Amino acid sequence: MIKPQNVVSSLVLLIPLARAAIEWGPCGAFRQPTNLTFSCATLEVPLDYTNKTSTEKLSLDLVKYDAVVKPAKNSILLNFGGPGGEGVGLGLVPLAPLMQAVTGGASDLIGFNPRGTNHTIPFSCFRDAASRSAASQLYPDVLWNASSTAPGEEWARSSLLASACKEQVSDIGELVGTQFVARDMMEIVDALDQGPLLNYYGMSYGSVLGETAAAMFPDRMGRVAIDGILNPYEYYHGYGISQYISTDDVFTGLLSSCLEAGPNQCALAQENITLSELETGVEAIFERLKFNPIPIPELGIILEYSTVKAQVSNMLDFPSEWPTIAAVLAGLAKNDVTPIITLFKAATGQAPSIDFEALYGIRCGDGDLRASSLEAYEPIAEQFEQTSKWFGDAGPTTSSRCAQWPFAAKERYGKDFPTCVKTRNPMLIVGNTYDPATSLESARNVTEIFEESVLLQHDGYGHLSWAQRSTCTIQYMNSYFINGTMPPRDTVCQPDHKPFSPELSAQ
Ligand SMILES: *[C@@H]1O[C@H](CO)[C@@H](O)[C@H](O)[C@H]1NC(C)=O
Ligand SMILES: *[C@@H]1O[C@H](CO)[C@@H](O)[C@H](O)[C@H]1NC(C)=O
Ligand SMILES: *[C@@H]1O[C@H](CO)[C@@H](O)[C@H](O)[C@H]1NC(C)=O
Ligand SMILES: *[C@@H]1O[C@H](CO)[C@@H](O)[C@H](O)[C@H]1NC(C)=O
Ligand SMILES: *[C@@H]1O[C@H](CO)[C@@H](O)[C@H](O)[C@H]1NC(C)=O
Ligand SMILES: *[C@@H]1O[C@H](CO)[C@@H](O)[C@H](O)[C@H]1NC(C)=O
Ligand SMILES: *[C@@H]1O[C@H](CO)[C@@H](O)[C@H](O)[C@H]1NC(C)=O
Repeated sequence: MIKPQNVVSSLVLLIPLARAAIEWGPCGAFRQPTNLTFSCATLEVPLDYTNKTSTEKLSLDLVKYDAVVKPAKNSILLNFGGPGGEGVGLGLVPLAPLMQAVTGGASDLIGFNPRGTNHTIPFSCFRDAASRSAASQLYPDVLWNASSTAPGEEWARSSLLASACKEQVSDIGELVGTQFVARDMMEIVDALDQGPLLNYYGMSYGSVLGETAAAMFPDRMGRVAIDGILNPYEYYHGYGISQYISTDDVFTGLLSSCLEAGPNQCALAQENITLSELETGVEAIFERLKFNPIPIPELGIILEYSTVKAQVSNMLDFPSEWPTIAAVLAGLAKNDVTPIITLFKAATGQAPSIDFEALYGIRCGDGDLRASSLEAYEPIAEQFEQTSKWFGDAGPTTSSRCAQWPFAAKERYGKDFPTCVKTRNPMLIVGNTYDPATSLESARNVTEIFEESVLLQHDGYGHLSWAQRSTCTIQYMNSYFINGTMPPRDTVCQPDHKPFSPELSAQ
């Protein structure tokens, strides 16, 4: 029997709740390119979606860049990856014109700082900047292969960071997971008041966020494109080894396109040298740095194996930067440190695009694998090195942090990410043939999960499809966002310019 009180409450539920619409205004906190106009807003969302008794709120920072073609047809939310990457000051703001070109210009673009990043409950494991800087100087990150003592040092460092985070952020450690961020995105969609559907472009880790939103809210998916694909099974229940599947192919591609381009475009290309001779030479450069690190008095730093290799590995993402990598390595081969000093001078003082504490906070809390000791973890590190002989020793840094992580996201998939999802509208999945940080194989696997999704293969190098621009890829993405048109199955797009061509370097 229904009691009168219940009748009343079910009636109340039928009346849609009046939502405060988002109030866009001028932006304050960050420097904007002077000739572009952004609007900003904040939106209150529940802090803990699993706690029905809590009324605590979280204030999300949002930024909007208007459609090129007005009036805007709808809005597209973006995520720039990491995790731990900002969506506002270091996200949409510097990339707005490029993002409009990729998404077709007919929609307003909306960036938001995911929880854990920037002011949105900052995930900060140190009391202040001074204690963070002291910790990183005492215990600088080393690559797993840097020396025979490196694995033990890294493992101990992960343990120290876990204790620091446990002490500083125990109140939010469980609240920054990807499923909560997916719920935040749906709150933004509701507040935009443009209908129930999420339109979204997610890059790199943003692919996991898109996959997660699609698995949780399949009926609310509008136009959802993901680019630089991570496999959700491995993300939620793995150590990230699949991120290194294509890395060696990319580095070999760098060296072979260098030889093809010749000495005028690539400093490493010498007449008549073979690819395998070049590989041996580069291996020797890295190996020498282990024993002969380079002091740079002007910067007060020592460039050793780990720092140099990590820098080269990061720059693999951007084929337009490959001539710089070649110049640095060619310099080191003949003991000329000028190119590498120039590179590190340019990098000094630049804000890092990803906050690593936020990255660990989100990534490690989402994952469910832990290891009880270095001995138990070693086989994982070996798998990284087997997956990429060139750069696999960078993998265990993040992964050994996760192995000892003290928090678990309140909602997380673990082994249970669904194997088959039918979304209201089909998803567009974009994968590069050679992406050093994600792989085409993951993109293929993800296409299998989402019914009617289509894989657009971008036959280029670098991380994300626009790292080596292709008019073909961009046109298919525009047609998807503007008209909902899917590319034909098995479409492969060629990039406009080859690596080491002056046109690509000018991008
Ligand atoms: C803004 O200025 C930059 C640098 O001068 C220029 O490259 C870009 O085209 C300008 N953008 C617009 C929308 O005018
Ligand atoms: C839920 O929120 C209430 C009110 O803020 C708090 O007292 C309680 O500890 C929370 N429960 C959990 C499991 O976090
Ligand atoms: C938030 O982002 C702005 C713009 O990028 C930056 O100036 C500010 O320092 C950031 N704040 C925090 C707490 O990260
Ligand atoms: C490169 O090979 C060609 C043909 O074998 C030869 O004529 C030339 O001298 C070589 N150049 C150098 C720098 O060894
Ligand atoms: C690690 O070092 C071993 C031995 O020097 C080498 O064979 C292997 O390729 C290295 N792996 C990486 C990723 O540096
Ligand atoms: C793709 O799926 C196959 C079959 O389930 C699996 O063996 C493989 O590890 C997956 N690869 C990636 C990169 O996700
Ligand atoms: C969208 O569809 C219209 C009408 O068919 C067409 O004229 C336009 O070129 C399409 N736009 C894109 C980017 O595919």
